[in-house]
Amino acid sequence: MYDLAIMWDWISFSVRWLHVITAMAWIGASFYFIALDLMLKPADDMPEGASGEEWEVHGGGFYHTTKFMVAPARMPEHLTWHKWQSYSTWLSGAALMMIVYWVGGELFLLDPSKVELSLLQGILISGASLTIGWLAYDAMCKSKLSEYPTLLMLLLFAILVAMSWGYNQIFTGRAALLHLGAFTATIMTANVFLQIMPNQRIVVADLKAGRTPDAKYGKIAKVRSTHNNYLTLPVVFLMLSNHYPLAFGTQYAWIIASLIFLTGVTIRHYFNTMHKTGKGPHWTWAITVLLMISIAWLSSMRTIETIEEAELRPLTSHEQIFVSAAGFDDAYDTVKGHCSMCHSREPFWDGIRWAPKNVYLETKGDVARYASEIYLQAGLSHAMPPPNAVQMDQKAREVIVAWVREARKSN
Ligand code: HEC
Repeated sequence: MYDLAIMWDWISFSVRWLHVITAMAWIGASFYFIALDLMLKPADDMPEGASGEEWEVHGGGFYHTTKFMVAPARMPEHLTWHKWQSYSTWLSGAALMMIVYWVGGELFLLDPSKVELSLLQGILISGASLTIGWLAYDAMCKSKLSEYPTLLMLLLFAILVAMSWGYNQIFTGRAALLHLGAFTATIMTANVFLQIMPNQRIVVADLKAGRTPDAKYGKIAKVRSTHNNYLTLPVVFLMLSNHYPLAFGTQYAWIIASLIFLTGVTIRHYFNTMHKTGKGPHWTWAITVLLMISIAWLSSMRTIETIEEAELRPLTSHEQIFVSAAGFDDAYDTVKGHCSMCHSREPFWDGIRWAPKNVYLETKGDVARYASEIYLQAGLSHAMPPPNAVQMDQKAREVIVAWVREARKSN
C-alpha cells in the first residue's frame, strides 16, 4: 500500500514536534544559565570557594543560588546534570534531517542544476560533512590559537562562511541552509558531549577523591560555552529558513547565512552585556537592523531559471518514474489547471509575486518531482489549492491519487 506517504508525513511531524520541544529545553536552560552566570554578585556571607550568588523570584518562591568556581570544597550529595537537553536535541534533529533530506532526498536534497549526484552520494556527503566541521574546530580550539579568543572566533566564522558557500554549491538552497544549521549544531552538541561534560566529570572525580580540581577545566568549558552562546540564534534561524524561500532560494543564500551568524553575535552581545551591567549597548540593534536590511535586499536579487530552461532540463530517474506512470497526462493537466497560476516561475495570480515555498508546478519535470507533495497537499488532503482562490473537486483529486499510486506500484 502506498500510504507509506501518510506514515512518513506523520513520522516527520512527530519527530519535528519532539525536536522543537527538546531544542526549547536546551536553549531555555542554556539562556537561563548564561543570564544567571552574568548576574551573580559577590556577597559577604558566601561559603568558602564561592564566586558569586544570586537571588531570584519565580513561581511563588524565592531561589538562592551560589556559584562555586571551579568546585565546592566537598562533593555535594545531590548533583543535577544538564546534558540530555543537548543530546536529545541533536538526536531528534539528526532523525528529522534523515527523514526530510535523506528519505525525501530526491525532492529536497539534490539539485542536478548544481551537481549531478545519486541519492546515495548526496546522503554520504550530507552525513560526512557534519563531522568534518567538528574535527577542524576542535583541533583549532586545542591548538595555540586558544590563547587568542578573538582570532579563534574569527576563524570559526571563516569556517562557517566556507561551509555555507560549499553547501550551496552542492545541495538545493533549502538543504544547504539546513545543513549549515546542522553543521553548527553538531559543533555545539559535540562541545557539550566531548569537552564540557568530560571535563566536568574529571572535576567531580577529583572532588570525590578529595583532590583540588584544576582551574583549567572550568576555563575550557567557559570558552566552548561562549561559542555555543553566539551560535544559538543563527542555528534557530537556519532551521526555520526552509519555510522562507527568500532566505534560501537565491544564489546569495550563502551570503545571507553568513550575515545571520553576525546577527547572532550582535543580539547576544546586547543581552550578555545587559545581564551583566543592567544596561545593554543599543548600537548593537542598529547593526542588527542593518544586517537584516542587507539580507532582505540580497534576497530580492534573484535570478530564476526561465521556463524554457526548466523544460530543457533532462528528467532525473525519480522524475522519469512518475512521468511514465499511467495517468500522468491527466494528472499533469489537473495540476496545470489548479496550481500553476500561483506555483510558477512568474506567477500570474494577484498578490503572489513568487511561487509559494518555491514550489514550481509548471513543467512535466516539476510535477513529477513534486509528486509526493502534490499527493499529500491536493490528493489526500484539501490543503491545496487555497479554497478561497481555486475550487478543486473530488474527481480532480482522485486523478492525482490514482496517478501517484500507479507510479508507486509500477516501481
Ligand atoms: C492561489 C494560489 C495557490 C494555488 C492555486 C495553489 N497553491 Fe500551493 N501554495 C500556495 C501558498 C500561498 C502556499 C504557502 C502556504 C504556506 O505558507 O504554508 C502554498 C504551498 C504549497 C506547497 C508547499 C507546502 C509546504 O508546506 O511546503 C505545495 C506542495 C503546494 N502548495 C502544492 C499545490 C498544489 C498541488 C496545487 C494545485 C492542486 C496548489 N498548490 C495550488 C498558493 C497556491
